Amino acid sequence: MKDIYLDNGGTTQLDPKVLDAMLPYFTIKFGNSSSIHKYGREANEALEKSRTIIAKAINANPKEIIFTSGGTESNNFAIKGIAFANKDKGNHIITTKIEHKSVINTCKWLEQNGFKITYLDVDKNGYISLPKLQEAITPRTILVSVMHGNNEIGTINDIDAIARLCKKNKVYFHSDACQSFTKVDIDVKNIDLLTLNAHKIHGPKGVGCLYIKDKTKIQAWQHGGTQENEMRSGTMNIHGIVGFAVAVKQAEKKHIPYMKKLRDKLIKELTSIEDVMLSGPKERLCNNVNLMFKDIPNESLGGHLDKKNIYTSAGSACSAKSSNPSHVLKAIGLSDDDANSSIRLTISKFTKEDEIDYVIKTIQDLVKKLRKKSFLDKVVDFVSKK
Ligand SMILES: Cc1ncc(COP(=O)(O)O)c(C=O)c1O
Repeated sequence: MKDIYLDNGGTTQLDPKVLDAMLPYFTIKFGNSSSIHKYGREANEALEKSRTIIAKAINANPKEIIFTSGGTESNNFAIKGIAFANKDKGNHIITTKIEHKSVINTCKWLEQNGFKITYLDVDKNGYISLPKLQEAITPRTILVSVMHGNNEIGTINDIDAIARLCKKNKVYFHSDACQSFTKVDIDVKNIDLLTLNAHKIHGPKGVGCLYIKDKTKIQAWQHGGTQENEMRSGTMNIHGIVGFAVAVKQAEKKHIPYMKKLRDKLIKELTSIEDVMLSGPKERLCNNVNLMFKDIPNESLGGHLDKKNIYTSAGSACSAKSSNPSHVLKAIGLSDDDANSSIRLTISKFTKEDEIDYVIKTIQDLVKKLRKKSFLDKVVDFVSKK
């Protein structure tokens, strides 16, 4: 049976066109973009062309794009870089309880280093409240970091409204847009810092960027040579950056309604099973479904799906090996048991409708089987205790 990959929130398959564009930069165009000879110039040209493509996609100026090794590094860079460069103004940072671990754990590290962090609550759909954000801002606040699209439950925040509120309060605003990039329009007009990566959009792993608005007071975090205006030293990952830009170009608008159609089919059919609930809002990322299957541990359902070559996840890929309930599902009000009975199904432009039909049928059958088994186990348990 062929594989059905529904963990595109974790990572995506490389688009073949991306691979084609990258290949020459491994082989014949292998120059270091800092070199001044022909090979260097060729690499530098590819670097700057890619920077322009990515900048244009978010309405930024190319010189405001700093390439990094991915979303985790960009989030670390944005938050630590702003924290240390602005500590004369204050030591307070605001974020939310449902950020990716690369934001939450960076904030936790800053707490051990003299900074104060407010982790805003979210409502049952994962939204923060703007009045609560306003209330949390103090004269010591230097940064607000709120993600654009949530990786587990697909919530899409109105980052322009949050950015405007921050601007009014003269506080920097950063957003992690790894999950929303190319799926929701982004304009950085009012945003100071934005994290993007390539591997969620059919680009290569290990490459991303941080958009830093011109004149932002930020400290470099990785020191060495003069690359990226000394904001992020190290030999440029040209093949990765070229792949990133081509992935952006390959993300066409028409893929969004296509993914929405498959997403909505999954939601409609699977929530019609008794005691299966959707977590997160109705208006959500076009590729995201997160379902709670009451009383069926996700390890069990996920394991059975795996055996049938259907690959899903229990939440964020970074926490997949942890048995702790998801911090995101807990923050929107699920109990530990319900959080541990939740499965995330994330589709991509390469997902086929017949795959979705097969997945629906397989899950319907498995749920029946697992519920019957758990009922019989309870009866046996009850009788043996008598
Ligand atoms: C919302 C979000 N932010 C950050 C990251 C981390 O990005 P990377 O894997 O490029 O380090 C991910 C991916 O796991 C993510 O989903």
